[in-house]
Amino acid sequence: MINTEHVFALVAAAGSGTRLGFDTPKAFVELRGRTLLERSLDALAESQSVGHAIVLVSPDMRQRAEDIIKHPENKLAWAPMGVGIELGGSERVDSVYAGLLKVQPLAAGRPDSLVLIHDAARCLVPPRLVSEVVTAAGDAPSGAIPVVPVADTIKVIEPLGVPTGHTTARLDGAERVLSTPPRSTLRAAQTPQVFRLDQLLDANERYLNAMEIGSAHPTEKHGLDSVREATDDASLMEMAGYEVVAVPGHHLAMKITTEMDYRVAEMLLDGREN
Ligand code: CTP
Ligand code: MG
Repeated sequence: MINTEHVFALVAAAGSGTRLGFDTPKAFVELRGRTLLERSLDALAESQSVGHAIVLVSPDMRQRAEDIIKHPENKLAWAPMGVGIELGGSERVDSVYAGLLKVQPLAAGRPDSLVLIHDAARCLVPPRLVSEVVTAAGDAPSGAIPVVPVADTIKVIEPLGVPTGHTTARLDGAERVLSTPPRSTLRAAQTPQVFRLDQLLDANERYLNAMEIGSAHPTEKHGLDSVREATDDASLMEMAGYEVVAVPGHHLAMKITTEMDYRVAEMLLDGREN
């Protein structure tokens, strides 16, 4: 059994939700009467696998986030899980790192504490998936992530480049297909992603240092193109050489990114609550 006292959650909520297109930050968008942030915290609390959660928000979100986490009904619903607020950063990786620096003193003396990172935008995540990933991470050398098979055939592409005699304006926005990785070897990564605190800090620091070197020497080739592309936390762990274990995810852990995702989430929720 994992001691939840040593499991800290970081809820990445500092994004603006540009692609969703609402006039409020995505974490505060309501889905059937409850915000994505509240629903994400509901799932983490219900999993009974998290001791303390830190919500990462942008400065303009802070007051509303405070109101949400201090609301007596929410406090009651989430207890005994504690919830705090911290300021995130301009990119998701900056938000997560800001949260990690707050976890460090809370986990003092326990470098083997687990850090669970969850996108507020994946607010329908089943509590059971949360506990399964935490358990797997506790058994793994470095951490675990939920993944699902991909339905589409995935292509590796490159820019089409300077138009040749054969290309016309009608190919605007088109790309060149380079190759097709075998679909059976591909998975889509979800959150929560759970890692050992000491290793996750190391992986984040190495990544941020590499970024800094890259931006100080923009003309030198440091192979940083792929580093900049890091779109989840596991990729930082992989780059640092840590072994990441993938466990079966769940379609309800989908990320609400576009309006269509939001409509799908409404339907999934209706189906779940009926
Ligand atoms: N996130 C964050 N800090 C950032 C950017 C994103 O904590 N600087 C969080 C978002 O709040 C979201 C999660 O990371 O819960 C996944 O990011 P994404 O789906 O891209 O959300 P947004 O960045 O808000 O959306 P968009 O890219 O469409 O603006
Ligand atoms: Mg984003």
